[in-house]
Amino acid sequence: MKRSVTASAPGKLMLFGEHAVVYGHPCIVTAVDQRVRVTVDVNGIGELHVTAPQVGLEEYCKKIGVLGEQDVPKQVHFIEQVVANFYKRFDLNEGIRVTTESDFLASFGFGSSAAVTVALGKVLSEYFGKHLSDQELFEMSLAAVRDVQGVGSGFDVAAAVYGGTLYYVTPGKKIEKVSNGHLPLVVGYTGVKADTPTLVRQVAELRRVKNGFVDEVFDEIAEVVEEARSGFENHNFLKLGKLMRRNQKLLGELRVSSIELDRLIKACESVGAHGAKLSGAGGGDCMISIHPSDDKHQVVRAVEGAGGEVVSVGFGAEGVRLE
Ligand code: PMV
Repeated sequence: MKRSVTASAPGKLMLFGEHAVVYGHPCIVTAVDQRVRVTVDVNGIGELHVTAPQVGLEEYCKKIGVLGEQDVPKQVHFIEQVVANFYKRFDLNEGIRVTTESDFLASFGFGSSAAVTVALGKVLSEYFGKHLSDQELFEMSLAAVRDVQGVGSGFDVAAAVYGGTLYYVTPGKKIEKVSNGHLPLVVGYTGVKADTPTLVRQVAELRRVKNGFVDEVFDEIAEVVEEARSGFENHNFLKLGKLMRRNQKLLGELRVSSIELDRLIKACESVGAHGAKLSGAGGGDCMISIHPSDDKHQVVRAVEGAGGEVVSVGFGAEGVRLE
């Protein structure tokens, strides 16, 4: 058994198909080259210790026997759940110290919770010599995320495990790489933190009230995703831009866009971007815009001019790995 193990997993950006993916339709997600690193060290006492400075947590400890019980602070919720589930599954009781570190701000909506969950699962698997396969790691991580959040298609967990750009159907029914090539995308952060579970519930409520209508919107989003998949395969960015516009219009019909998102999207399109849309649950977080190869700077200036923050990231990054 090793005494100190580190693994890292990438964040993600939803490209097409958000919300509809929760209802069994496909989506396309890409892993970004900003990562979360998790280290597990030996700890002589029968406790879980956690240090997670990027979420303002200097020191947290909990007896192994009561993991997942009593009050669990928000910042350690995913970590404690992963350890609790893993220890139960393999009947473990050894004390450990978990330290996390992140390249990106949790507020961007890059999926830091899924990335932490997956990196920690990988580290525990290695530390305790369990050698879980990617498929097992995916299933275990998705279960932990759902234990904490209650909702979620698992697209972010898939991106953290497998990396690349993926065509995904929940709950991992299909996980297929679509493209690893260059994507001329600009990512703009609105400055507003969105709460994904709230927006997912909002759409569920709209679907309850306007059942047929919302399901028709989902069907159309699914068509957009299928067309986008071939757009990625042919590197047809003009087509992908048009599909982004169509996807954004459909998301507007689900009422998940926001003034800030609309402002940034309009700014990108007004300077010649092929298209732009929100990325993720909506309500805030980031938008993405696809542009002609030589037009990046114009789009960057447009985002900044409209009050957004451009986030520099690479796409199609490597999935979880031991460091
Ligand atoms: O807000 P994000 O980036 O975590 O994306 C949420 C995407 C949804 O489809 C709305 C929910 C999900 O779990 O797929």
